[in-house]
Amino acid sequence: MAEDKDDKHREENRLSLEREAADAEHAAKIAGDIPPRDAPDKPEAPKHRPARRGRRGKTVQEVPSTGHEWDGITEYDNPMPRWWLWTFYATIIWAVGYVIAYPAIPMVSQATQGLLGTTTRDRVAAEIERFDQANAAVQTRLASVELDQIPDDPELMNYATNAGGAVFRTWCAQCHGSGAGGARGYPNLLDNDWLWGGTLEDIHLTLLHGIRDPQDPDTRYSEMPRFGRDELLDRTQINQVVDYVMSLSDLPHDAASAQAGESVFMDNCAVCHMEDGTGDQSQGAPNLADAVWLYGDDRETITRIVSEGPFGVMPAWSNRLSEADIRAVATYVHSLGGGE
Ligand code: HEC
Ligand code: HEC
Repeated sequence: MAEDKDDKHREENRLSLEREAADAEHAAKIAGDIPPRDAPDKPEAPKHRPARRGRRGKTVQEVPSTGHEWDGITEYDNPMPRWWLWTFYATIIWAVGYVIAYPAIPMVSQATQGLLGTTTRDRVAAEIERFDQANAAVQTRLASVELDQIPDDPELMNYATNAGGAVFRTWCAQCHGSGAGGARGYPNLLDNDWLWGGTLEDIHLTLLHGIRDPQDPDTRYSEMPRFGRDELLDRTQINQVVDYVMSLSDLPHDAASAQAGESVFMDNCAVCHMEDGTGDQSQGAPNLADAVWLYGDDRETITRIVSEGPFGVMPAWSNRLSEADIRAVATYVHSLGGGE
């Protein structure tokens, strides 16, 4: 019966091969070229390996085939290695245990909780709690010692600069830049040029109450007049005083115009920026005689500042940050290199 079937298959196979060959021959004839034709080899694969002698004379055990065969290559039906199977079972048991013990299967509102009741949220909360407790003592001390004692205390100093750096990156970097380098209208906190003073005490006060913060009655306040807009000076006078300001730091200027601007400056600007233009930290009036500019050193910007009046605002932090955090970030800013 089986042989009959095999024979039938072989016959069908032969017929279809012959048919293909005839088709090819016909196609070649039409093309005017008949290629020489070889009878196709019939693939002959052994169903079983004959028993062989191993190297030490042991008989190699015959392995049954799965019956799969591709191009004469047969697939043996070897069992999985024992170590592999046991590892596999162990992972299944582990997985079942894990699903029972830990949050695992996502449900509609939250995942299954697991018998151990662990959540990553609890773990984070515990970590924060642990840090807060570990730092509670140093935070209390930081918030209560005299400000000028902080730099002399290595432990406080170490904590304050680290925690202050983190506060700075969270609350200050968007305006002052992540490296505290500042931007137009936002002062650079790395240099030794201070609007309102660069001692730890000054910086602390600036942070507590902000600068021109309308919500803080104790905020640092001063207002440069709008000389152009409020018609305190005319166009010529403004051009002259701008030339004079530019001459103070050797920026390109018209010498004659600057000379005329000197008296305008003495009459209108020296009250805040001082007669030599070096500024006044008690009013937040910048030094105009150095190379550091808050708003820019080009003629157009300086003319705009004199005409419109600048009004830089820095928020107060006393209602948002704890005293320890404010002192930490003040210490951090003070330690950046420009502290006085
Ligand atoms: C919304 C923007 C903004 C944020 C946020 C901000 N600042 Fe300021 N800060 C300013 C501006 C603007 C000035 C300059 C105000 C002026 O023109 O007098 C300033 C001034 C200062 C000064 C005074 C500099 C000097 O030369 O006297 C210090 C110190 C300072 N900021 C530190 C900080 C710290 C620390 C933080 C984070 C806790 C912070 N700032 C967050 C805008 C900001
Ligand atoms: C009432 C005090 C006051 C007077 C008077 C005053 N200024 Fe100012 N000036 C300031 C303050 C305060 C600032 C900084 C304001 C800020 O940061 O928002 C400033 C900033 C400037 C700046 C910007 C500096 C920079 O670094 O970008 C220039 C330029 C300037 N003043 C020029 C003048 C000239 C010129 C006059 C006279 C015509 C004058 N100021 C009069 C208080 C004054």
